[in-house]
Amino acid sequence: MGLHILGTGSYTPARELTNDDFTKFIETNDEWIRTRTGISSRRVSEGEPTWYMGAEAAKAAIEAAGINAADIAMIIDTTITGDYCTPSVSCIIQRETGAVNAACFDLNAACSGFVYGVDMAHRFLKTDADAKYALIVANEQLSRITNYEDRASCILFGDGAAAVVVEYKEDALYTSHLGADGTGAKFLFAPTAMPAPYFSVPEKLEKKWDDFDEPLTGKFAHCLKQDGKEVYRFATQAMPKAAKAAADKIGFDLNELDKIVPHQANTRIIETAMKNMGLPMEKAVVNIAQHGNTSSASIPIALDEAVRAGVIQRGNKICLVGFGAGLTYAAVILEY
Ligand code: UT7
Repeated sequence: MGLHILGTGSYTPARELTNDDFTKFIETNDEWIRTRTGISSRRVSEGEPTWYMGAEAAKAAIEAAGINAADIAMIIDTTITGDYCTPSVSCIIQRETGAVNAACFDLNAACSGFVYGVDMAHRFLKTDADAKYALIVANEQLSRITNYEDRASCILFGDGAAAVVVEYKEDALYTSHLGADGTGAKFLFAPTAMPAPYFSVPEKLEKKWDDFDEPLTGKFAHCLKQDGKEVYRFATQAMPKAAKAAADKIGFDLNELDKIVPHQANTRIIETAMKNMGLPMEKAVVNIAQHGNTSSASIPIALDEAVRAGVIQRGNKICLVGFGAGLTYAAVILEY
């Protein structure tokens, strides 16, 4: 029933944006950001596209896995900041990695995207005996959809990418739980940057079609808008709920976990979620201080860094758990 992670990789841009850098354009300070979020710094793209970051991470993961890219049967790219409406980022990753035999598609489950992607890969590999490996890539460039005049949100986000190569393994540990609550869609959203429909009429343009708060206007019109407190509340419930639901499916005790790799949105969210799961904070992998929130890339960047630092080792039982816009939530439990 299981999934085996063969290799991990990540890429973050060279340009660093520290908390002090924000004091130059918004009213804030390092102390507020660190104590409220756990973030000290984050990386931001200086122009490299989302697909480039993903391709670099993917190449590192393929190298770490020691496989031939031509044996990858599927590439799933998770992003909310793809460079194009079409083609998908995954097709460009295929071009860059030489994974010529892979089917390719992108998946949007916001910050839960990577965990959704891992579970889709598991289901795909399980049902296709000819499919050897899958590559899941998470790449995000949140600096393109961040309102740098909103001090409550802009300090949270960073850019980066990470990837894993996985194979199906009949006897390996695996369980998952994916979910969503669309009634919370209004709490975290970013409109598309597309212009109004070509044939639009004023009445239809002016009609209020949903219960979202007023979107931003001007140069930040395409940017993320959130109700931080609602998202916070959701996150602290949703991550424990997803992890417990996944564990319950196979009668797994969460205390058996060696490590939890949660979505890196806010250290306080992680602390409360760990408490709600009845697990000590030492079991959480946390790298938010250096990267901020990189949406779907946050879990695999933390995973890759933990693997390369020896914090997660072969045989460790781990849980990847996230939440995000949608609102979505997801957990997988597997053995590294
Ligand atoms: O991937 C999911 C993405 N979203 C999230 O994860 C968001 C989850 N929510 C959060 O992490 C927290 O709600 C925030 C970090 C966004 C905000 O923390 P908070 O403890 O909920 O603060 P708040 O919004 O209630 O603001 C408290 C005070 C306010 O001042 P007053 O009204 O009490 O005088 C804010 O204006 O802090 C002020 N404030 C700031 N002060 C300095 C807000 N942002 C800043 C800032 N620097 N950057």
